[in-house]
Amino acid sequence: MPDLFSPFTLKDITLRNRIVMSPMTMYNSVDGKLDDYHVSYLGARAAGGFALVFGEQMAITPDGRTTTSCAGLWSDDQIEGHARICAIVKRMGAVPAIQLGHTGRKGSEVPPHKATNAEGTWKQLPPDDLDGWTCVAPSAVPYGGGGHIYPVHELSVDEIKGLHRAYADAARRALDAGYEWLEMHYAHGYLGASFFSPLANRRTDAYGGSVENRMRFHLEALDAVREVWPEKYPLTMRLGCDDLHPDGTQFEDSLLAVRAMKDHGLDLADLSLGFNTDEMTNPPFGEVGFMVGRANRVRREVGIPVAASWNLGVPQNADRVIREELIDLVFLGRPALSNPHWPIWAAMELGHNDPFHLVQDDWAWWLRNFRGHAPSIGWPTAAAEVAAHERPAPQRRVA
Ligand SMILES: Cc1cc2nc3c(=O)[nH]c(=O)nc-3n(C[C@H](O)[C@H](O)[C@H](O)COP(=O)(O)O)c2cc1C
Repeated sequence: MPDLFSPFTLKDITLRNRIVMSPMTMYNSVDGKLDDYHVSYLGARAAGGFALVFGEQMAITPDGRTTTSCAGLWSDDQIEGHARICAIVKRMGAVPAIQLGHTGRKGSEVPPHKATNAEGTWKQLPPDDLDGWTCVAPSAVPYGGGGHIYPVHELSVDEIKGLHRAYADAARRALDAGYEWLEMHYAHGYLGASFFSPLANRRTDAYGGSVENRMRFHLEALDAVREVWPEKYPLTMRLGCDDLHPDGTQFEDSLLAVRAMKDHGLDLADLSLGFNTDEMTNPPFGEVGFMVGRANRVRREVGIPVAASWNLGVPQNADRVIREELIDLVFLGRPALSNPHWPIWAAMELGHNDPFHLVQDDWAWWLRNFRGHAPSIGWPTAAAEVAAHERPAPQRRVA
């Protein structure tokens, strides 16, 4: 039976455990590039024991960003920053992963921490603002929620084909940079999610209407990427598999879509919500692991490895969903933000016999062997261990 610390192999890549740093947009780029900020932030998570480390959704075109301070990989001069990330993540023993995406009708925003609107988040800028642009979408239907009211441009078929080429070009650059895992972002109300959802996609051509047509964008993008992305590396996707709205994406359709994507070379499905509307029925945001049930159905019914995020940051919960073989990988968003050493903390909490196997050998040597008063070394320590060390042990000589 696997547990949270069991290795996981997909294609030619073996992860050292099941803990993934989930993609998170950081709003800290100039001209879409990655720099010291990202090296330090992502390097720290790799050093902290995460097995697979994602940066943020990397835009395949400039207008595929959320804000003008978001990162991308639409140009060769952005490769260098990505290569630095891949190098530090590998040096710290983790696998570097990239999420490619396009924000569609949820672009042209203000970074949430800088928004001054009443909602405090997701404020959209008008197309004529210096930091704004006209968003693109399957149909000329603005998102609507959170002030997303500006007109959007309906993509022509030629423009859709151009975006598929942009996916492939970004994938080729990702390979040059040194990434070993590629996830397509088809969730959270961005372009892929909006092609899949009848709330956003009102097209009457080959890209709209039936579920087969609404998943055409995804399959063609996957095919384009698979042509340049080697078979030895995992190609995965995050799907907005449910809009929690009677007229939006339905989970049963998502089962069909994942099955079709598997036939097109998909190696793992990471299940999340559609977020194509603010008007969700009974949003489950307070529930532990609320995507796990749907992910498990995909695992069983489609027969493909799966991952999920959402409220899995309590170590016992993360461990349980792996032990019960409900999902294969646990994606952590906010826990990775708040604690770069979450995996080590989890190992301590779960009573792992060697939590320091998760850090670099040189640090691990000191932490295992030079522990006179173990509770003082700076890692979370179980209460029982603190009690056992009430009196400091004699110091060892430092070599
Ligand atoms: C600051 C922040 C930025 C995020 N940006 C992305 C993103 O770029 N791509 C994505 O797929 N999900 C993004 N997410 C969602 C997370 O990857 C994750 O799915 C979500 O936070 C739920 O996991 P959690 O409960 O462990 O936080 C973001 C979440 C946060 C908190």
